[in-house]
Amino acid sequence: MLENKQTAGADLTNLPRHIAIIMDGNGRWAKKRGLPRTAGHAAGAETFRRVATWCRDIGLEYLTVYAFSTENWHRPEAEVQTILGLLEKYLHEAIERMERDRVRMRFFGDTSVLSPKLQKLIAETDAISRRLDGCQVNVCVNYGGRDEILRAAALYAQSGEPMPPTEESFSRFLWSADVPDPDLLIRPGGEYRLSNFLLWQAAYAELYFTDTLWPDFDEQEMCRAIAAYQRRERRYGRIAT
Ligand code: FPP
Repeated sequence: MLENKQTAGADLTNLPRHIAIIMDGNGRWAKKRGLPRTAGHAAGAETFRRVATWCRDIGLEYLTVYAFSTENWHRPEAEVQTILGLLEKYLHEAIERMERDRVRMRFFGDTSVLSPKLQKLIAETDAISRRLDGCQVNVCVNYGGRDEILRAAALYAQSGEPMPPTEESFSRFLWSADVPDPDLLIRPGGEYRLSNFLLWQAAYAELYFTDTLWPDFDEQEMCRAIAAYQRRERRYGRIAT
């Protein structure tokens, strides 16, 4: 755990409820070191482990990460298989440890197209998570914000729920049903866009961008992002009071 002076001014006793992260910059991190892009993803997976553990330790309620987008299928096959393989490895370990670590997991995205092995691991982690309380990590796999909204619209139309939907009734058909919207959305890697991530849920999220590449991200960087969030005034379209 970090000493007070190392928290970059972040008050870890007054945390946002939900932090979302676009884990960007793995490829560039590898290139800078003359390594294949896949090595960047392996390093990124380690960073995810470390950051998720830290989030649990500080008492964060929800962490959502963008692991694989609906657009990522267009990457070279070897890279796609590396990312999905890293997820598989992580889930194997998580199944062993999540009860002890008190970490719940959920998956946002259409996981029905993933390998049977990965689907089985996802089903197992889902089942264990239903018995647990504690920090919830949402992993977005084969996820796209537009895809999620279209899918929810189709499900809503078939559901027999009253028309027109309300924000509240509609959001129950999103992958993120029952999860509060992210308060803080962090994008490392120096790009300033959402890349189809949590388009509905991030409507009022505070956005934090940094040039640090995801594999270099750490607790200090998380503290900087949380401190920046805590300095902001959230107005939700109203005027300052
Ligand atoms: C974006 O960086 C990153 C991804 C598309 C994959 C993220 C996946 C992991 C961190 C590993 C698997 C996840 C888990 C949860 C174990 P990029 O490749 O677009 O980087 P670049 O912009 O530098 O090319």
